[in-house]
Amino acid sequence: MLKDFHHFKGSELTRSEKIQRKVVELILESKIPDETRESSFVWELKHSSGCCQVGRILAQKRSLDIELSEIICILHDIAVIVEGSYKDHAKRGAEIAKKMLEESGYFSREEIGLITEAIAHHSEKQAYTGNPYVELAKDADVFDCSLYQNAKGFYLLHKPKEIYKEYVKRIISVRKELGLRQDEFFREE
Ligand SMILES: [Fe+2]
Repeated sequence: MLKDFHHFKGSELTRSEKIQRKVVELILESKIPDETRESSFVWELKHSSGCCQVGRILAQKRSLDIELSEIICILHDIAVIVEGSYKDHAKRGAEIAKKMLEESGYFSREEIGLITEAIAHHSEKQAYTGNPYVELAKDADVFDCSLYQNAKGFYLLHKPKEIYKEYVKRIISVRKELGLRQDEFFREE
């Protein structure tokens, strides 16, 4: 039977969609103002949604589970959303996500383990693991960021040169995977 799309209204949301809606609610209802959080509300909304879409695309390309991939991506910076800080945000995010997913009652222990491992390690862009979901989290994160104006300047100004090179390596490899040109890897204007 043909099902109508709910546009995130009502009670017909899937478990993944409920988590996605929860993330938006956490951003909109946060008591930490833009002045004191390291990124803005707008950035958190845009980057979590952007990563979620990139994650869906990469999951299709890599034949991974789309639902788990979108949950990993929407939650990858959950610590920054909740605490307003990037300090230890990967590890803190894994703890926050674990609690959130357990409390929802919709996910098995194995699923929670897979999701939280990807979140916990998503900042280690220089490392290449054999875990496709950990790699998807890193790739979706850098690729989404690379599409914004002046992302290059941000990385060059705020990341050590070696880390910048690792980001570029990942962005180029995702661009190749998606059939995009590789001589330009940041949006220049
Ligand atoms: Fe991120």
